[in-house]
Amino acid sequence: MYNSYVIHSFRHDVVMDQSLIALQVFINEITDCERFVIICDSNTTSHCLPLFMQQILLKKQPLIVCIPAGESSKNLTEVNRVWQELTEQNINRNSVCLNLGGGVVTDLGGFAASLYKRGIRFINIPTSLLAMVDASVGGKTGIDFMGIKNQIGLFSFPLRVFVSTAFLQSLPKHELLAGTAEMFKHGLLEGGKHWDEMCQLKPDEILGRPGLIADSIRIKNKMVTLDPFDTHGRKALNLGHTIGHALEAWALTNQAGPTLLHGEAVALGLLTESFLAKEHMDLNPQLFATIQDWVLQRFHIPDFDMDVVLDCLKHDKKNKENEVNFCLLKSLGNVQIDVPLKTQAIRASLQHLKSLR
Ligand code: GLY
Repeated sequence: MYNSYVIHSFRHDVVMDQSLIALQVFINEITDCERFVIICDSNTTSHCLPLFMQQILLKKQPLIVCIPAGESSKNLTEVNRVWQELTEQNINRNSVCLNLGGGVVTDLGGFAASLYKRGIRFINIPTSLLAMVDASVGGKTGIDFMGIKNQIGLFSFPLRVFVSTAFLQSLPKHELLAGTAEMFKHGLLEGGKHWDEMCQLKPDEILGRPGLIADSIRIKNKMVTLDPFDTHGRKALNLGHTIGHALEAWALTNQAGPTLLHGEAVALGLLTESFLAKEHMDLNPQLFATIQDWVLQRFHIPDFDMDVVLDCLKHDKKNKENEVNFCLLKSLGNVQIDVPLKTQAIRASLQHLKSLR
């Protein structure tokens, strides 16, 4: 068990802080802060903000800016609205944003804060499992644009990230489960104990495993610290994300259909990209079967439109000269980055995914 446990990363620490006492101490130390701005969404306003306000004492009434919940809010219109509120309330450069929410809030809040008056400070307080183990950590901020995930953004590091698993108590079960997909990915990247534990983790068990969450953050941090600006080794964190982002982009265009959470898309991406790795990188079929079973036991495969997904892949940030570049698993703990693959191969992997529906 941890009480307050610090994981050091590039330009920011991540503090496991169950009771939020460490956050209170940190806030008290920011003596030059003119005003705190809390950026949250329509879910965290009702489920997390009350707990936050109960535990944290701010000297002056904070400005609360609320965006609608969901990936479809991660856009320029909402950023514009945040900037308008900050401007109308005369928020100055000595202010600090507290991003209280899941990945959409920490990505968008960090982006809005980093550009407002050429940058004001921000602190991430992730409230979803996915944001705790991935989005809030490592300085990637941004928004979606023209249907492309994270098309506009910048690296900008929070002062600190405070992780309290107390916020997970109010998270819907399917969101908790979606967060475990990124943790499973961390297991694949590192192997060893984290991998074994993630394979054995039952779908509804994560709430009682803060140590496993801390371990996942440690793995993410290790990769961020070695390559903060994503030019080489950090790219391995994109495992499952090439197909995952394209499926997410398809789901965003398919407003009438079911929504697809980022973690759910990543899980399906891990399965599909493992198929590619088996076909093109000699990934052990036994390991592929383990990955496939883990995903199928937890996640549903939507009836996606293959051509839309293939089209979305063209916009992936890793692409070079019209080839789609993947990060593929060679073996447990061993990833090959920048593997170019042709459309025919990708189509076969998506066909495999469809066949499992
Ligand atoms: N989510 C991938 C990364 O932070 O690099």
